[in-house]
Amino acid sequence: MITFSCNSKNEIDPKKVKHLSTVPLFLAPMAGLTHVAFRQLIAELGGCSIFYTEMLNSRIVANRSIKDDIFLKKGAIDRPLVAQLVGNDAATMVKAAVILQKEGFDGIDINMGCSRKAITKHGWGAAMLNDPDHALEIVRSVRDAVCGFLSVKLRSIEDHNEQKLIDFCKRLEENGVDLVVVHPRTPKDGFKRPARWEEIKRVVQELAIPVVGNGDIVTVEDILRMHEETGCSGVMIGRAAVIRPWIFWEMVYGMKWRGNILDILEKAAFLFEFYLPESMRTGRFIDFCNWILRNYAFYHYMIKRLCTLKSIAECLDFLKQEIGSESYSLVERPFGGRL
Ligand SMILES: Cc1cc2nc3c(=O)[nH]c(=O)nc-3n(C[C@H](O)[C@H](O)[C@H](O)COP(=O)(O)O)c2cc1C
Repeated sequence: MITFSCNSKNEIDPKKVKHLSTVPLFLAPMAGLTHVAFRQLIAELGGCSIFYTEMLNSRIVANRSIKDDIFLKKGAIDRPLVAQLVGNDAATMVKAAVILQKEGFDGIDINMGCSRKAITKHGWGAAMLNDPDHALEIVRSVRDAVCGFLSVKLRSIEDHNEQKLIDFCKRLEENGVDLVVVHPRTPKDGFKRPARWEEIKRVVQELAIPVVGNGDIVTVEDILRMHEETGCSGVMIGRAAVIRPWIFWEMVYGMKWRGNILDILEKAAFLFEFYLPESMRTGRFIDFCNWILRNYAFYHYMIKRLCTLKSIAECLDFLKQEIGSESYSLVERPFGGRL
């Protein structure tokens, strides 16, 4: 059981507290990170409104046996849970979406944001934005095939062409998409340039359906600022959810979290062992540590050591010694507030 210790000095600006429970928070899809065990951890910590799976290859979902597929496994309380699909063949996307709906996912998301070469070289992810008509054909086909919640997560259009982004989002709306998530960076921007929140605002102004903002949230103050500046209906959190899994809790309760990171690591260790197959456990646990340990000034040293260890139990023993030894100080805003 993870306990949260709080005191009144830790309150977030009381003038803003009225917003706290009114901004739904979304856990971003992140390949290698937002697997069932991590989502369950976030759910147990509390405060996250909607969970997204990491991207699921539509070809694999449509054509291989999904029985015991770890990427489709759901936790006990990570709900509502949206399954994110990547692919650009209409028949395959439809088949995969129908399977996922039958499997009990609460919604489907189409990935139009991933800029990794391994994805875009197939014309998938952000590459779909280069051929809007085809992208919309996929959306229409999936919309006709599934009756539940359908979202699209996309990046900015090349050269930050706002008008093209708005036109495309309007067409998504016309074609029956229930919600769009805007990560306002172009594929070329990668993660190097700051997300241009003003583009989220422009899309919000033009669409009737909910628009969720995404990009560069580090703290609760950032969530409130994004909500205020853009008018978005919800905020999606990616990297900060792994660095500070308690950010959702802080948002809901309006207090700074003052718990012990070791408690979270122990809980994560238990959940990773419980949910993930043996072949994935240690690797995924170290991947998780690679983010959460950024709260410590000397995280590079800890990660280097963790990478030499062979089991979660060994990792945990090492972390107990290091973190318990109080030889490290917590970093107030990891990387000076920039992710
Ligand atoms: C390790 C990693 C994996 C990601 N995988 C996905 C993915 O599977 N699908 C997707 O739409 N976006 C993916 N993203 C992008 C995030 O969902 C999010 O849009 C991006 O990190 C910006 O949000 P942030 O600034 O809150 O991190 C990934 C990001 C990271 C860092």
